[in-house]
Amino acid sequence: MISKHTIDLIFETARVEEVIGDFVQLKKSGSNYKGLSPFSDERTPSFMVSPAKQIWKDFSSGKGGNAVSFLMEHEHFSYPEALRFLAKKYNIEIEETEVSVEQQQEIDQRESLFVVSDYANKYFQEILFTNPKGIAIGLSYFKERGYREEIIKKFQLGYCLDEWDNFTITALANGFEKEYLEKTGLTIVKDDKQFDRFKGRVMFPIHSMSGRVLGFGGRTLSSEKNIAKYVNSPESEIYHKSHILYGIFQAKKEIVKEDTCYLVEGYTDVISLHQAGIENVVASSGTALTPEQIRLIRRLTNNITVLFDGDAAGIKAAIRGIDLILEEGMNVRVLMFPDGDDPDSFAKKVSTDELKSFLIENAKDFINFKVALLLEDAKSDPVKKAALIRDIVSSIAKIQDNIQREIYVQECAHLMHISEEVLFNELAQLHKKELKELHGVSIPDKKQFKVLKAPTSEETQETYLQFLEREIVKLLLLHGNTKLDFIDWIDHHDENGKYIQKEVVNNNTVFEEIYLQLQTDEIEFTHELFRMIYFEIIRLFQENEKIQSEALVNHEILEIAREVTNILMEDEKYIIGDWNKREVYVKPKTHDKEVVKSVTDCILNLRRNLVNKKITELKNQLKEIELDNNQEHIEMIMKYKGLEMMLSDKLGREV
Ligand code: CTP
Ligand code: MN
Repeated sequence: MISKHTIDLIFETARVEEVIGDFVQLKKSGSNYKGLSPFSDERTPSFMVSPAKQIWKDFSSGKGGNAVSFLMEHEHFSYPEALRFLAKKYNIEIEETEVSVEQQQEIDQRESLFVVSDYANKYFQEILFTNPKGIAIGLSYFKERGYREEIIKKFQLGYCLDEWDNFTITALANGFEKEYLEKTGLTIVKDDKQFDRFKGRVMFPIHSMSGRVLGFGGRTLSSEKNIAKYVNSPESEIYHKSHILYGIFQAKKEIVKEDTCYLVEGYTDVISLHQAGIENVVASSGTALTPEQIRLIRRLTNNITVLFDGDAAGIKAAIRGIDLILEEGMNVRVLMFPDGDDPDSFAKKVSTDELKSFLIENAKDFINFKVALLLEDAKSDPVKKAALIRDIVSSIAKIQDNIQREIYVQECAHLMHISEEVLFNELAQLHKKELKELHGVSIPDKKQFKVLKAPTSEETQETYLQFLEREIVKLLLLHGNTKLDFIDWIDHHDENGKYIQKEVVNNNTVFEEIYLQLQTDEIEFTHELFRMIYFEIIRLFQENEKIQSEALVNHEILEIAREVTNILMEDEKYIIGDWNKREVYVKPKTHDKEVVKSVTDCILNLRRNLVNKKITELKNQLKEIELDNNQEHIEMIMKYKGLEMMLSDKLGREV
């Protein structure tokens, strides 16, 4: 692991404008830089880099962060990968933290497997292009299939000679250890014999998102029935079949740019589509799609289109895949190729333009797809139709987003000529059943139904709370260290027992004021992210007695870094609109009084919200209490009502 010291050094050294400047053309604009968003196709720049704050923001996609998060977004590096990239750029020597012997062995072991795989990849390519047999057999096979040389090179295709152990012997002679050749599966060792797993096959290297070789698929050139068409690397510490997608390295840029990903079955489908100009495509490599694979795509886009051949097996696999994709919260479309064609064969029959429009015109929403597929059969058969409806509803139930689910219900109702009511009921039943299976509880129908329809007042309250919580975080980030005069009213009773309020002035920093006030009421944030940020701010304050927003912008939890960047960049946003008109723009300074008012307002509103909640709670309890025992309860409610009025009064007063 990279040491904390090195990480700090990397963050101190890396200049966001320099790092981004390697990927995006930046132009100076006032104290900032601007450029065209690398995350979308745009003509007027909405991408901004602030050297002073060392952050960036892309207003077209909403993304933003620091140098590291830029690399993670743009190059799809993992956090350590981004750090290593920066260390290399700035010639920083990486200091690894002390790890246990076992941990170090594990790291060394994985690294050794990577190194061997990388060597094998180069070896197979060299054979393909320079060995006479490689050229005559391997290269000519690819050429016969119509692959152009540039595409062969792009996918680093290769060939393994049809000799028992040519690869193994060469690798050993080059100092690679047998242990790792065996662990990657490149060499099969039996007793005192050893031979090449991929003997006589053309090679398809399988890359990670960042381009490291994880394993291989090898295709036989023989058409004999009893020889497996493909042999793949066995599971190892670096190759987990269920976690990889073939082509993700070559496709990632285009997936982000097109904001959609085509999912196909095989290696050759990916390559043929690339050659035909469709580059946002990956393959599940003939296995059933897994959640891990879907999440890999989700790092790049929310939209998947599943392409499959129209045979029975293909349809079955596609249907299974759809539900999994929906469960991961992604949008899914499906496209079935005409009988007998797969993406590979189809791409070769038509021109690039024809292919592109075919993909766009024929991709169906998953409901339309299921309906089209099954309705013909079910039209005149009410039993079958009911089964189809249940089938579709079970897919809809997988969607997590309420609004989206409702849209699908409408669509399904329209297509199947049934009422939305019926579908919602079906959905509610299903949900109930699931909950019961999951937690062993039954839920009354009505409530379920309501959750699915329009947002409840609970939901609006939740949104409002989140808004307040975000405002607090924003105040802390922008003004946390500022000392200001806060007015507080102290409640007390005078000597006659009369209740009065006394005004006191507290000279506090914004942080102290917010922290103390929230502490007093034991107010807790409801929104996970804002709670995390709030705790981080408290921690920073306790450590340094002031808030340094850089520490949060550079936070290793990406969500924190991103949200903090968003907040910090918010007041820069309107400068974008002015870029074209004038270059210099003076930001109005927020007036102290406004800050005081915002802080007080937020706290009072949070407090009022808390009191409201308490009142509702008490009222609900009241329903269950017997009439003659409820006096105390009613008094409590009245007391809270009084408090609520006082808070409303205060909120009104300081306008
Ligand atoms: N596959 C596999 N092992 C097999 C057969 C298939 O791993 N014995 C995987 C491969 O990833 C293959 C995918 O399933 O790419 C799809 O299989 P298939 O359609 O048979 O192969 P294609 O890639 O289409 O190969 P070709 O075009 O050469 O027939
Ligand atoms: Mn195929």
